[in-house]
Amino acid sequence: MLTVALPKGRIAEQTLEKFEKAFGEKFVFEDRKLILKKAGFTFLNVRNQDVPTYVMYGAADLGVVGLDVLEEKEYDLIKLLDLGLGRCKVAIGLRAGEELDWTKSLIKVATKHETIAKKYFEQKAMAVEIIKLYGSIELAPLVGLSDCIVDIVETGTTMKQNGLEVGPTIMESSVYLISNKNSFYAKKDLILDLRERIEATL
Ligand code: PRP
Repeated sequence: MLTVALPKGRIAEQTLEKFEKAFGEKFVFEDRKLILKKAGFTFLNVRNQDVPTYVMYGAADLGVVGLDVLEEKEYDLIKLLDLGLGRCKVAIGLRAGEELDWTKSLIKVATKHETIAKKYFEQKAMAVEIIKLYGSIELAPLVGLSDCIVDIVETGTTMKQNGLEVGPTIMESSVYLISNKNSFYAKKDLILDLRERIEATL
């Protein structure tokens, strides 16, 4: 039996389609149910940012999560396979036509990716004040809450439509199948077999 934490929404559906191809079974969460048990798997429907937590604490053996979320948590988890889903980048966003003023003594950065942003600016030896937001990040520089943002860019449309420009890329991200170390060693054969079958569907 393997327990897999999936992020609610499109990525969960796309991942379950891969499991369907790999195992010839239909995997669908019923209505509002958060647990789906079938064919030797227990799938958990959890919030995107919570996937690494379920896996880290061993409540799930495996998880499916974007590299950006994983990087943000800084947990020591095993990346088993790039599922090639949810490709995006984490980038700086600035008001159109503006550049970051590296001479400023303190730059205000709005983001939900606090750790990634903090590390990036630390490497550049920049003093930053990180302002944690939970969504609609693009709004912050427009209303003077921050000088810039660090956010997910997929198509770039959200930034463009809100008068922002995509600046330097901090990291590329896509969705990975991950495991905690205990599960990986205790259920190695099952996990490697799963990895191989899913890889064959890519
Ligand atoms: C993410 C991100 C951007 C948008 C980028 O938001 O925070 O707002 O997607 O996509 P684009 O480059 O294709 O326009 P999400 O949909 O996760 O919602 P949120 O603002 O509530 O985080």
